Amino acid sequence: MKRDPIGWMKDEYQKLVEADLDWKIRILQGPSTPKAKVDGVDVIMLCSNNYLNLTNHPHLKEAAIEAIKTHGTGSGSVRAIAGTMDLHAELERRLAKFKDAEASLTYSAGFTANEGLIPQLVRKGDAIISDELNHGSIIDGVRLTKADRFVYDHCDMGSLERVLNEAENGNPERMLIITDGVFSMDGDIAPLDEIVKLGSEHGAMIYVDDAHGEAVLGKGGRGIVSHFNLTHDQVHFEMGTFSKAFGVMGGHVSGSQDMVNYALNKSRSWLLSASHPPATAAACIAAIDVLEQEPEHVRTLWENREYFVKGLQDMGYDTGRSQTPIVPAIVGESSKAVKLSQGLYKEGILALPIVFPMVARDAARIRNIMNSGLTKEHLDQALNAYEKVGKQLGII
Ligand SMILES: Cc1ncc(COP(=O)(O)O)c(C=O)c1O
Repeated sequence: MKRDPIGWMKDEYQKLVEADLDWKIRILQGPSTPKAKVDGVDVIMLCSNNYLNLTNHPHLKEAAIEAIKTHGTGSGSVRAIAGTMDLHAELERRLAKFKDAEASLTYSAGFTANEGLIPQLVRKGDAIISDELNHGSIIDGVRLTKADRFVYDHCDMGSLERVLNEAENGNPERMLIITDGVFSMDGDIAPLDEIVKLGSEHGAMIYVDDAHGEAVLGKGGRGIVSHFNLTHDQVHFEMGTFSKAFGVMGGHVSGSQDMVNYALNKSRSWLLSASHPPATAAACIAAIDVLEQEPEHVRTLWENREYFVKGLQDMGYDTGRSQTPIVPAIVGESSKAVKLSQGLYKEGILALPIVFPMVARDAARIRNIMNSGLTKEHLDQALNAYEKVGKQLGII
């Protein structure tokens, strides 16, 4: 029989459809804003990472348009060859200053920062030590290394200590501890101060992925290193992304100049992938301007977060370990979370379910993400919908 070279894909996809595990892609018809049009329906958006509503901020949009006029649409190359424009260099200077670091390096995305940098930090015989709930891009970066891998229980410092001692048995030359700053499914914060303390006892490098913490935590949104009053002598790699609260696109890492010199010469995703279009770099610079000049966005984000969490908890919803603007409503079985999301959508609320295998089988949830652009009226509409649908489904 002649082989159908790609027939297996249809079969695999069919299996996903039958298990209702295929992604149903929704189409935004306009900007990602707290009030958005999705598949023809006006909704209150509770599932975008656009925490500060900067995706539609006039200063970012004007900067992007201006950069197209002055620098064109593409950079034409990878950074190392002919793709470093003055805008890329300025962005890195501005970010380093914002992060109070010696230097910063930008990547095309947060994913490619993790995937490109982590494998360059450890070699065979070294030890890499990772929180069990770290993001998939960290997991992929770790998989690309030949180092011995150790996983500690989520945010459990006793477990980290045990794992560090176990790792020492292999006599590694280098050790790397790596953690998310804010965990994306629960909204809890890694105890970075304690991780630094334990790590320094073992001479380990510390790497934090602050994708959900920057422009959210710390002084004026400077991120998790600022939140814990730490320095880049203690946290050697402060990695993040411009794709979430910064409202644009792109990964980055901040730390020492030596670190950046090494990272840019070694990361394959930096060396072998084109640099950002000028509009992207310019919009990222503008996002830093906004953070520095308009502190009200971060303040309102946190006020909205407190209001919404209290509203959900008062109704009897379980918001789990949330400490940040990521606020889960944990409901148990996957089917309940799916029905709750569908019911909310009928009420004009876009809030998506997170189900097994992304979270444990009995911890399916709706993951709400707060936004500084949500008004009290929007939040009340969302809370009323949670009350109505939650009662209908017997969740509260
Ligand atoms: C913790 C974490 N790291 C990295 C990334 C990837 O960032 P980007 O979307 O810029 O590739 C994400 C995005 O989902 C994330 O949540």
